[in-house]
Amino acid sequence: MTATTSHSLNALVVEDDKTLNRLLVDQLRRLGFETRGVVSRATALEMLEEFEPSLIVLDIRLPDTEEVEFIGELCEICPIVVLTAYGSIDQAVKAVKAGASEYLIKPASPQSIELAVNRALITAALRRSAVFWQAQARPLKVPNMVGVSKQYNVLRQTIELVAPADTTVLIEGESGVGKELVAEAIHELSPRADAPFVAVDCCTLHENLFESELFGHERGAFTGADRRKDGLIEVAEKGTVFLDEIGEIIPTMQAKLLRVLETGIFRRLGGTKDFQANVRFVAATNSSLKGLVEEGKFRPDLFYRLSTFTIDVPPLRERRGDIEPIARHFLATRKFMRNFEKDFSVQALKALAGYAWPGNVRELRNVVERAVLLSGNLRTIQQGHISLPEDADRSGPKVELSFDHEPTLEELRENYLIQLLETHQGNRREVARVLGVSERNTYRLIKKLGRQKKVGATFLP
Ligand SMILES: Nc1ncnc2c1ncn2[C@@H]1O[C@H](COP(=O)(O)OP(=O)(O)OP(=O)(O)O)[C@@H](O)[C@H]1O
Ligand SMILES: [Mg+2]
Repeated sequence: MTATTSHSLNALVVEDDKTLNRLLVDQLRRLGFETRGVVSRATALEMLEEFEPSLIVLDIRLPDTEEVEFIGELCEICPIVVLTAYGSIDQAVKAVKAGASEYLIKPASPQSIELAVNRALITAALRRSAVFWQAQARPLKVPNMVGVSKQYNVLRQTIELVAPADTTVLIEGESGVGKELVAEAIHELSPRADAPFVAVDCCTLHENLFESELFGHERGAFTGADRRKDGLIEVAEKGTVFLDEIGEIIPTMQAKLLRVLETGIFRRLGGTKDFQANVRFVAATNSSLKGLVEEGKFRPDLFYRLSTFTIDVPPLRERRGDIEPIARHFLATRKFMRNFEKDFSVQALKALAGYAWPGNVRELRNVVERAVLLSGNLRTIQQGHISLPEDADRSGPKVELSFDHEPTLEELRENYLIQLLETHQGNRREVARVLGVSERNTYRLIKKLGRQKKVGATFLP
């Protein structure tokens, strides 16, 4: 037998239902694929000896370790679109974890097949080129993103590749690593750059408020809605909607968000008319969405929709080469009274380079700002002007938390937060500084405590 050498796109259908198999083969041929259909794993492996597919459509019946392994093997070859029975989204998610690119629920319409197939191919192409570009050195176009480390260069290149593609992007990373900056860069480098970039905080207690913020509301939708209001999706028309803290989104909104992500269709609160959104979605989270899915707190189908393309922003301690350039960048952007330039002493730089930066770039910015103040008129910032938490522990406030049992991590967090709020008289800004997280995040943590009635009204936002 001869190997296929044609450069057209090839597709392989693995489906034991003969009727469905034939339908899929026809459908893919109509989409321009040179297509073969097989009915079992064994015949698929045989076919792969002579046929090189650019895409595989595979029927699945997970959970079955063999099948998971099979997906793992196949996805080394090309992107896989899995077909699953209605009501088995969990299985689809397992398949995706095993390496499948897309899933389709049976019976899948020709349109949804075309969409899934295209998306799988685009994502695969992006991944391949991201890997390719990691090896290349070239000028970078992303503005305002300071960093010279290899990890940061890879990050920038990934952004440049994904920005024009209009796919949904999920940005993961610890607090303060610069996730919002990444989202802005994606927008700036996309064809949507001339339209608005709108950030939406997904952490909110009130369902109606969030829904009306995102989708808008009609007059009379709820008490106090005395006029119609456009949602942020409409405000961002032709631009980018940045869904910050997506892990915090309330369950009822998860379904509505999924709908708009999949179809672009949304409805104003209290309205009856459907609207078509023209926006690109970029989401960010500092907790693992996968973990939230496993805990049952996040819809697997929404997770899957969001995570087609994920960008991980590494913590600062894993790219220490970036500490000095970023610190200098913050120093340079400070305006000084007599307009002179400051610099760091060698010892000061050493102190910065050796620290773990749990609050990442945001913490670095705060430390540099403080050092500027402490150094007064001096041209050189000395080590003594760099105040890092270890120093504070020696001279400043001591933290003691006591429990009559071994506390869980959650209890530790809660108690520490309550103590900090007391020490700083509820000053959120100060608490945020100590914790090395954003004020917005602190706000979220306090609200969570309030919800559990663990802090008094005085501290509530
Ligand atoms: N590479 C960088 N160069 C310059 N400034 C940066 C860089 N990375 C982050 N920053 C700055 O650090 C601060 C924190 O970044 P950002 O708000 O994007 O973080 P985040 O990951 O969204 O944080 P959080 O999880 O707390 O919301 C911002 O002022 C941002 O401009
Ligand atoms: Mg942020």
